Amino acid sequence: MTKHTFYVTTPIYYVTAKPHLGSLYSTVLADVAARWNKLQGKQVFFLTGTDEHGQKIAQAAAKAGKEPKEFVDSFIPAYQQAWKSYEIDYTYFIRTTDPDHVKAVQDWLRRLMAQGDVYKDVYKGWYCTSDETFVTEKVAEHEVVQKGEAPLCPSCGRGTEWVAEETYFFRLSAYQDRLLSFYEQHPDFVLPKERIHEVINFVKSGLRDLSISRTTVTWGIPFPDAPHHVTYVWADALTNYITAIGYGNPSKEAFFQQWWPADVQVMGKDIVRFHAIYWPAFLMASGLALPKHLLVHGWITVDKQKMSKSFGNVVDPMMLHSLYGAEPVRYYLVRQLAVTHDSEFSIADLEQKISSDLADALGNLLNRLTSLAHQHSVVEIQPLAIWAQEAIDLRDACLTMVEDMTQYMNDYSYHMAYARLWQFINTTNAYFHSQEPWKVAKKDPALFVQILSATSHSLRAIALLLRPVMPKKMEQLLDSLGVAFSLQHENLAQLELGMWHHSFALKKIPTLFHKPEVKVAESNTALPQTEISSERTVQPVVPDNTITIDDLTKVQLLVGTIEQCEAMPQSDKMLRMQVNFGDKGMRQILAGVKQSYTPEQLLNKQATFVFNLSPRKMMGTESQGMMLVAEAADGKVKIMMPEAPVPNGTRLR
Ligand code: MSP
Repeated sequence: MTKHTFYVTTPIYYVTAKPHLGSLYSTVLADVAARWNKLQGKQVFFLTGTDEHGQKIAQAAAKAGKEPKEFVDSFIPAYQQAWKSYEIDYTYFIRTTDPDHVKAVQDWLRRLMAQGDVYKDVYKGWYCTSDETFVTEKVAEHEVVQKGEAPLCPSCGRGTEWVAEETYFFRLSAYQDRLLSFYEQHPDFVLPKERIHEVINFVKSGLRDLSISRTTVTWGIPFPDAPHHVTYVWADALTNYITAIGYGNPSKEAFFQQWWPADVQVMGKDIVRFHAIYWPAFLMASGLALPKHLLVHGWITVDKQKMSKSFGNVVDPMMLHSLYGAEPVRYYLVRQLAVTHDSEFSIADLEQKISSDLADALGNLLNRLTSLAHQHSVVEIQPLAIWAQEAIDLRDACLTMVEDMTQYMNDYSYHMAYARLWQFINTTNAYFHSQEPWKVAKKDPALFVQILSATSHSLRAIALLLRPVMPKKMEQLLDSLGVAFSLQHENLAQLELGMWHHSFALKKIPTLFHKPEVKVAESNTALPQTEISSERTVQPVVPDNTITIDDLTKVQLLVGTIEQCEAMPQSDKMLRMQVNFGDKGMRQILAGVKQSYTPEQLLNKQATFVFNLSPRKMMGTESQGMMLVAEAADGKVKIMMPEAPVPNGTRLR
């Protein structure tokens, strides 16, 4: 029987600063997991919160001239506001300074002491304050021998300090074999699976007992019956995942049993060791089940360096929110950043995705559908029994997409899932375009209704599957199709996304996604011309004329196939073409090449285009890009073809 509850957690964030894009990324992935499982009809508990103890926080507070509690309190509104702005639908926000958590941790330690899994001894070693962890003996020996000085922390690269103190140990070494056999029996405990190798190697290299108390730190949970010891911040932090749902509280026993073990715990790759080794060992010692999966994502990098406060390269999620809105940024994080590896963040990339995927491929399709329906007063669409082969093909493609997408989503492969969904959006666009409903409307009204219905069915499936990422926008889209939907009453299984027997009431709504380029155009920034000029201008190469590589990467030069091409009767220069850019969609592009090529000569040819030029109207027709040409000796222009065919949408570099 499938389980009807789903428990998902984010890491709890250090509150030394406001949230940044890295923290938002972990949180959005967890939110998508939560919403996807709600869509599957499950009851969901989604936990997030803040990690507020430890030396690092105490030092940051001292630097700010504040008491630690006052200091951490000051950041909480920024976190909660950011999550609200980004539509993070968490169930509970835990703070490790919450009295319930403090008590539960102390009770837990008491039990572990009583059973002998926690004992007192003296610890000597090199300690990294920044990572709140001891450097392993091997690393320390190696570095000290080499340099005769304190070793650097292998994880963050900062200096360490020698610490010799009385401490409580957790008997980690006793769990080495059980951990190894657990990894063997649960090869998908860590996702992506490849990340388990470094964990296994670490455990195999030998686990020493873990020091879990400090006497040199005062900002933390006092150890039971030894208050001059405070609990090691990771022992305090990891347990949040169980204390938040009532662990150790007799009145919440049933609630705890209902939710634990977690289905998935989301985190960045830098904290895998804590979650894949210490955490399972703590749980084993406590007689509790282990989480089903750890979903480990890579880092967001800027210029190939991890985005982090200490490197001074953080992007403020609230700045992105004010420029682009919550849901386009959520989409970008889920689709463009691969869970499996590090991903470079750039504004240009974000704007390009909003423009091509959201505004062009998806928004435009809805807009064209509803405008055409209204233009021909066909807005109420009843279920149909007979479909043309092209519509049946589209329905089959929809069905396969739903199956693939469900598989990817259930495997937590979100970037793959949404790439797959976009493939289908392109298929729907291609169908709509090739059916030419604007021509069919009068000639064959029955076929016209069928094209509108097939496109609406596709959009319905697209919107429902995109809901976990863009909840509000997709509600607007569904509203525009006249589809009533409520999570309480319907879930994925009942939605019958592959069954095409639904009715629609098409309604025009304000533009769903705005292109960021429009903002640039409105700010009067000079933009290049769209029309192709036959004039040759030779610019002398002077230093002032050079551009940086960043300038160059602003221009998106893409290869596309000219799938339709026709002369524009009102112009002796212009050809109008429909260009296929693969998963970046179809574009209409006008080019002044009529005197050099007939439409037939260009048909099915690949050429190179400027893809991110703001759209421009010429003779009442919009051109959504510019074709690149070179002028030959006879004054005719030549298109720029790749030397061998390449996939549509390939970017020049
Ligand atoms: N407090 C610990 C976690 C304790 S969980 C029991 C912590 N906090 S953190 O604020 O430093 O980081 C929290 C999460 O944000 C981690 O998953 C981390 O990987 C993620 N990110 C921080 N910077 C990041 C990027 N530049 N890119 C992606 N995520 C990164 O660690």
